Amino acid sequence: MAKKQLRIALRNCGVIDPERIEEYIERDGYQALGKVLTELSPEATIEIIKKSGLRGRGGGGFSTGLKWEITRKVQADQKYVVCNADEGDPGAFMDRSVLEGDPHSVLEAMAINGYCTGASKGLVYIRAEYPLAIERLKIAMKQAREWGFLGEDILGTGFSFDVEIRYGAGAFVCGEETALIHSMEGLRGEPTVKPPFPSESGYLGKPTNVNNVETYANIPVIINKGWEWFAGIGTEKSKGTKVFALAGKINNVGLIEVPMGTTLREVIYDIGGGLQDGAAFKAVQTGGPSGGCLMEKHLDVPIDYDNLIAAGSMMGSGGMIVMDDSNCMVSIAKFYLDFTVEESCGKCSPCRIGNKRLNELLDKITKGNGTMEDLDKLRNLSTVIKETSLCGLGQSSPNPVLSTLENFYDEYYEHVTAKKCRSNVCKSLMMYIIDAEKCIGCTLCARNCPVNAITGERKQAHYIDPEKCIKCGACMEKCKFSAIFIN
Ligand SMILES: Cc1cc2nc3c(=O)[nH]c(=O)nc-3n(C[C@H](O)[C@H](O)[C@H](O)COP(=O)(O)O)c2cc1C
Ligand code: SF4
Ligand code: SF4
Repeated sequence: MAKKQLRIALRNCGVIDPERIEEYIERDGYQALGKVLTELSPEATIEIIKKSGLRGRGGGGFSTGLKWEITRKVQADQKYVVCNADEGDPGAFMDRSVLEGDPHSVLEAMAINGYCTGASKGLVYIRAEYPLAIERLKIAMKQAREWGFLGEDILGTGFSFDVEIRYGAGAFVCGEETALIHSMEGLRGEPTVKPPFPSESGYLGKPTNVNNVETYANIPVIINKGWEWFAGIGTEKSKGTKVFALAGKINNVGLIEVPMGTTLREVIYDIGGGLQDGAAFKAVQTGGPSGGCLMEKHLDVPIDYDNLIAAGSMMGSGGMIVMDDSNCMVSIAKFYLDFTVEESCGKCSPCRIGNKRLNELLDKITKGNGTMEDLDKLRNLSTVIKETSLCGLGQSSPNPVLSTLENFYDEYYEHVTAKKCRSNVCKSLMMYIIDAEKCIGCTLCARNCPVNAITGERKQAHYIDPEKCIKCGACMEKCKFSAIFIN
């Protein structure tokens, strides 16, 4: 697993006791804050972050240094620094791991951000379903205050900065920065049109610099080791590393951190150990509900923000799910659409109504009632939703549909023309049949069928009534003579 990995954001996770600030300090903790406050101006620090090439790890990939510069330049009596720890993508746990394993690195980076942008208050917006991360964060905040790294007159430099915790409202859309800010203000967690961007007008109408947990975790190391070191890792336009939550039909599941530019093949085979049971690779989903499904021909694509977009997916926050032949790509698209339909805040109609209609079309296709015309509708509606939705949720929600249509069109075609699901996932398109040649009439299948759909005399070939069969698969599992198959 360690092969080809490079731990920058995760450098302390599993190495230090996150509840002991001494262990963080032993590994250069709070050195970057000390250096910045005593040796560097805010402008010089921002220049380092800009030159490092660090881009936001929350999904958008915006230049972190540039965002800090924009926030710094806005004149205001009060500014805020926010850490986005909402992490609502299904299957994602990158940010949780950083907060549980190394909370001080995030606090240190937030203080550096406050110094650079001119903010004295920091807010961590964290989902309430992360109790351990919250607990560790609280302990870290208390210790940082005791040691003089947070609070009034930090390290005697006259700079004051402190952090508060705000709890997430349990909605995916609340990770979107404008919705997050409204949620913190006690309003409904709904996005608003940008501009104005939070850097100009955010929390309580004040300039607010929002960054992701993993983005923050990179900051102290960049200051300590220099922008040249960081900029030397990765690809031309995507520097440093990225943490991924590797999941699906892969041997080694879990968190990994790799330099940008590592190929999908290296991640899946060298780090992930290949597919389970030696199965053939079919697809890899990156970017969660906003991303897409890539295929065999993309395996040698070096992972970075721009390459993944060019391939029809996106980096997102770091979910990576590997699939084999047992995954139906139409059903996968539907899985993500089910999620976005559930999570759409409903504020704008393209997302609220469009995604529902998109999901109905997918439902129709997976139930065997789809037509070729429906495939065109899927494509057209997806384009309209992308172009007209208010926030990133709606703007990216059709990506799983569009990428599977593009890369796995044959499967859609089979679903609507032959009414066939080659992965045997879409139950409506499956029929359990007993091969009379192989059946010896042992009755085991009939005795295990929960709906009495199987008839037949002992020692004679049995028969499944397709009208009664609920396609549970119990008979096929029980039959010792491989006499039952799916058509
Ligand atoms: C629907 C939606 C959900 C999002 N969820 C998150 C999230 O959970 N965490 C996060 O850091 N960014 C999330 N973002 C991106 C944020 O809006 C924002 O770009 C990010 O927090 C900025 O930090 P960064 O520049 O460090 O990436 C989400 C965006 C959208 C559209
Ligand atoms: S795109 Fe969806 S989530 Fe975003 S504002 Fe519109 S309805 Fe809400
Ligand atoms: S698949 Fe389930 S319901 Fe259908 S015949 Fe077999 S045991 Fe009965």
